[in-house]
Amino acid sequence: MTVDLAVVGLGYVGLPLVFEAVHAGMSVRGYDVNRGVVDGLNGGVSHIDDLSDEQVADLVSRGFAATTDASVLAEAKHIVICVPTPLAEDGGPDLGPVRAAVGDIARHLQPGQVVVLESTTYPGTTEEIVQPLLEAGGLKAGTDFHLAFSPERIDPGNEKFGAKNTPKVVGGVSPESTEAAAAFYGRVVDTVVRTKGTREAEMAKLLENTYRHINIALVNEMARFCHELDIDLWDVIDAAKTKPFGFQAFYPGPGVGGHCIPIDPNYLSYNVRARLGYPFRFVELAQEINATMPSYVVKRAQDILNEDGKAMKGATVLLLGVTYKPNIADQRESPAVPVAKHLREKGAAVVFHDPHVEQWRTNGSVTERVADLDEAIANADLVMLLQHHRDYDIEALAGASKRFFDTRGVAAESPTVQRL
Ligand SMILES: NC(=O)c1ccc[n+]([C@@H]2O[C@H](COP(=O)([O-])OP(=O)(O)OC[C@H]3O[C@@H](n4cnc5c(N)ncnc54)[C@H](O)[C@@H]3O)[C@@H](O)[C@H]2O)c1
Repeated sequence: MTVDLAVVGLGYVGLPLVFEAVHAGMSVRGYDVNRGVVDGLNGGVSHIDDLSDEQVADLVSRGFAATTDASVLAEAKHIVICVPTPLAEDGGPDLGPVRAAVGDIARHLQPGQVVVLESTTYPGTTEEIVQPLLEAGGLKAGTDFHLAFSPERIDPGNEKFGAKNTPKVVGGVSPESTEAAAAFYGRVVDTVVRTKGTREAEMAKLLENTYRHINIALVNEMARFCHELDIDLWDVIDAAKTKPFGFQAFYPGPGVGGHCIPIDPNYLSYNVRARLGYPFRFVELAQEINATMPSYVVKRAQDILNEDGKAMKGATVLLLGVTYKPNIADQRESPAVPVAKHLREKGAAVVFHDPHVEQWRTNGSVTERVADLDEAIANADLVMLLQHHRDYDIEALAGASKRFFDTRGVAAESPTVQRL
């Protein structure tokens, strides 16, 4: 084995790991099934927000190379799997990419290798799915080779916490596997946290995401009745968060997006239901509340137009910010898509602006970003702020709008400006 690390799946999770490992002095290879991704990286082009083209080119100059050839996996002392785990049609996780990646690793598995799964999944995946596939060739996990789960906690766009200074949770199929994986991560990240086994590490990730999902649902539900009660929930949260213990602030919004929050808790509820036969009620309730926020904000938009004696049908609605998070280009599961869908169903003409998105794909159609934001503001019957990118001068935008609906609670309220 001639390289320290092979990363399988070179996306939002895999590439930051490549970056940290190369900068820790390791020799690193990347394996991905997408030829476009591989060619781009080898040519110094980044396809994720957290790494620039210059940084990717620098990785290549330091010896990093990506490939679509799985035989590279036989050369690596450590193999980390960072492939996607999307939702399947039935609501459970689609482990197709994980199975495919593990199959490739199994075909090249060497004694002494350390294999780690980072993809988010339900508890039991490492030992029930990954381990038997890897052991099919005769080598035993925990002794002949090592196997562990280490959940990815990357927060794209977070300028304070990246792969290096976010503690890494590690749980192996045996104490030896835990130590082997922890020793590897100890070379790459500042802090390693060991769990009893793989299931605890898998569940820790789902606890973190479910906690966010449920708390966002809590404030989303409160936003609905606070509006009816004429209580400013944003002011309420600002007051509550002054408590120095026992409270963490979460904020309402037009829905939840990204890969983690809307999807991962489903793995857990699906798994609990499939194995134990009863529902994980908190997750299912949170799912119901968060998933109906897009239609709720569209109803509020309709009420605002109604106050002006306007119908939604025929109105021009300008959406500001269509990504799922501020200051990044990632649009996965963005609630802006169902918001646009509901607006169009009611007959509105939907236009959009986002500093990070030039062309926006929604429900099969492609929309170009408005060419001139000032002109689009002047022409819109209603402007809806869906994502608060730092490039936006909110007060100026709100002040220039006929009606401004702020779903992020950042604009000062006025007769023409309403907050969620
Ligand atoms: N993006 C995030 O913010 C985030 C945060 C925490 C955890 N995660 C988890 O990490 C995992 C990876 O997510 P991501 O955001 O990096 O996905 P991504 O889509 O950005 O990247 C995944 C990459 O894997 C490649 N791939 C797919 N199947 C493959 C295979 N069989 N062999 C090799 N490569 C393959 C794809 O071509 C793609 O380049 C998921 O389980 C996700 O839930 C993501």
